[in-house]
Amino acid sequence: MSIHIEAKKGEIAETVLLPGDPMRAKWIAETFFENPKCYNNVRGMLGYTGLYKGKRVSVQGTGMGIPSALIYCHELINEYGVKNLIRVGSTGSYQKDVKIRDIVIAMAASSTSGINNSRFINADYSPTANFELFLNAALYAKDNNIPIKAGNVLSADEFYDDDFDSYKKWAEFGVLCVEMETAGLYTIAAKFNVRALSILTVSDSLVTKERTSADERESTFNTMVEIALNSV
Ligand code: HPA
Repeated sequence: MSIHIEAKKGEIAETVLLPGDPMRAKWIAETFFENPKCYNNVRGMLGYTGLYKGKRVSVQGTGMGIPSALIYCHELINEYGVKNLIRVGSTGSYQKDVKIRDIVIAMAASSTSGINNSRFINADYSPTANFELFLNAALYAKDNNIPIKAGNVLSADEFYDDDFDSYKKWAEFGVLCVEMETAGLYTIAAKFNVRALSILTVSDSLVTKERTSADERESTFNTMVEIALNSV
């Protein structure tokens, strides 16, 4: 047992999907896994292990934002030996051609978080996806005619920005969309020499102000989870 996860050693698989919402973790386990077993309920941050296509896989809720996600990633890597961490989350579009319901794979993550500023003083660190996981995800999507977009995303520290138009600066420099965890995930994976990937579905657009309905979110979430489970 670690501080925030009550699983015994060996109860968590080497590959873990990471939704922010613990209820999504439950839904993924019940929808995609054979024989899912819940291994964590500390703080209601549900985690499950089961089988997908005969291989052991886990899913763990992370909560929202880099600080919360890093707690779970740190313990999964260092206490449970996890080697592949794949975030499956939602994102807000910054670009006209990144539309609601699109799937975005984060090649790299810019950030407004201070985690790397305090590590690499007066220098910029570039948190990037693991190339093998990225390639597998992109090839799976291509082979199955699932359109994807890939590029730089922003991991923001605040969901509600003071200045609504501040996204335009990031958009001008090619950032595709905003979420709140990937830069932390890619940084900690690099630090501990494990593999990480973030796959996102666009739930809302800062450009057009559209939002997906709960039903639409569920069906696009399905496709994203399918890509994630076939990326390792
Ligand atoms: N901001 C931050 N995170 C998000 C958003 C957003 O607009 N949409 C989905 N995740």
